[in-house]
Amino acid sequence: MGTFLTSRLWTNLSSHLNVSRIRAAAYSSAVRSRKWVLVQHFDGFPKHTDFELREEPLPGLKDGEYLCEAEWISVDPYQRAYTPNYQVPMTMIGLQCARVLESRCPDYPEGSYVVGGLGWRTHAVRNPSRDEGGLLPFATAPMPEMGALSRSHAVGACGMPGNTAYFGLLELCRPTAGETVVVSGAAGAVGTLVGQIAKKKGCTVVGFAGSDSKCDWLRTLGFDHAINYKTAKPSRALREAAPGGVDCYFDNVGGWLSDAVMCQMNLFGRVALCGCIAGYNDPPGRRTLVPMLQMPILSQQLRLEGFIVSRWSDRWQEGVDQMRAWVEDGSIRAEETITEGFENLPDAFMGMLAGQNTGKAVVKV
Ligand SMILES: NC(=O)c1ccc[n+]([C@@H]2O[C@H](COP(=O)([O-])OP(=O)(O)OC[C@H]3O[C@@H](n4cnc5c(N)ncnc54)[C@H](OP(=O)(O)O)[C@@H]3O)[C@@H](O)[C@H]2O)c1
Repeated sequence: MGTFLTSRLWTNLSSHLNVSRIRAAAYSSAVRSRKWVLVQHFDGFPKHTDFELREEPLPGLKDGEYLCEAEWISVDPYQRAYTPNYQVPMTMIGLQCARVLESRCPDYPEGSYVVGGLGWRTHAVRNPSRDEGGLLPFATAPMPEMGALSRSHAVGACGMPGNTAYFGLLELCRPTAGETVVVSGAAGAVGTLVGQIAKKKGCTVVGFAGSDSKCDWLRTLGFDHAINYKTAKPSRALREAAPGGVDCYFDNVGGWLSDAVMCQMNLFGRVALCGCIAGYNDPPGRRTLVPMLQMPILSQQLRLEGFIVSRWSDRWQEGVDQMRAWVEDGSIRAEETITEGFENLPDAFMGMLAGQNTGKAVVKV
């Protein structure tokens, strides 16, 4: 009886005084967010002195806002490629999965999860009605249902990289059964998925990756051929792997490797230009180029199309649902390289750029 009276009294009091709001405001203003700041622009390959770990107090919650805490933070090649577009010092850009700790926003209840471009920070306060995602085309939104899968896949196979593979391959390369598909950066987040989706379509798949162990692993994923571009001569190895030529090329890297592949394209071949990581650490204006594009494009009447995955934002959920279904039924393996600890974000990022990851590189905060 005493407990009942006490709790009813508390309920009445709290509704009169709006205690939950007072508590929410007190909580978020007490939270200090840690964040990784890029203090100078990268000059060549990133280094530790480009980053500084800082703290900032967060403001109290206002109506319509929520406070979230990072659970997984993604490290991706675009973080190297895009930062010259920003002014330093800047909080590092990036996608993360986060849990809502406090909320004054009914669509984002406490305990729910969000995914979006929250950057390299442990905590953030967001107002969804004002969240345009910054320079990243990814506003923060409720996390899609992940079922029994790890929530980290929301920034991997069931998120941006998954949709990059799904739409880039199926909409631009449009592979059909019996065709030969080549993918560079094959052992990474996007590449592993591209190769596995192409196998689902009945294609012969050739992947290029940067080590023998990655190549062995790609064969276990079902790739027909895997070539170590650092030790093999790519042109010769590709001629042996695909004597009938290449119908589709999903290009993640650019540079000389792409030159080798493009020169072996079949008539009316399709090239999806997804990324050019081979040049991301080059000085601006001196990017590694594909040297001999015109002749193969002309003579083989190729179709080459660059893309940014946000092009399919109106079909985003379709890609997420399909990728999730394939990962859940085991027909696609979504590997991850997990680095533990927020303080290790720069190491995870630099490790990914240096090729230390297989599958998606992600940091568990
Ligand atoms: N267009 C879009 O919307 C979109 C979206 C997502 C990603 N992307 C692009 O897709 C590509 C792959 O992204 P991801 O997230 O899947 O990254 P990732 O492949 O998981 O990681 C990067 C990989 O690139 C390889 N690499 C590094 N330097 C290289 C070089 N000089 N030559 C060849 N390979 C090199 C490394 O693997 P090795 O050991 O094999 O060298 C490394 O593991 C990137 O170019 C990225 O910018 C584009």
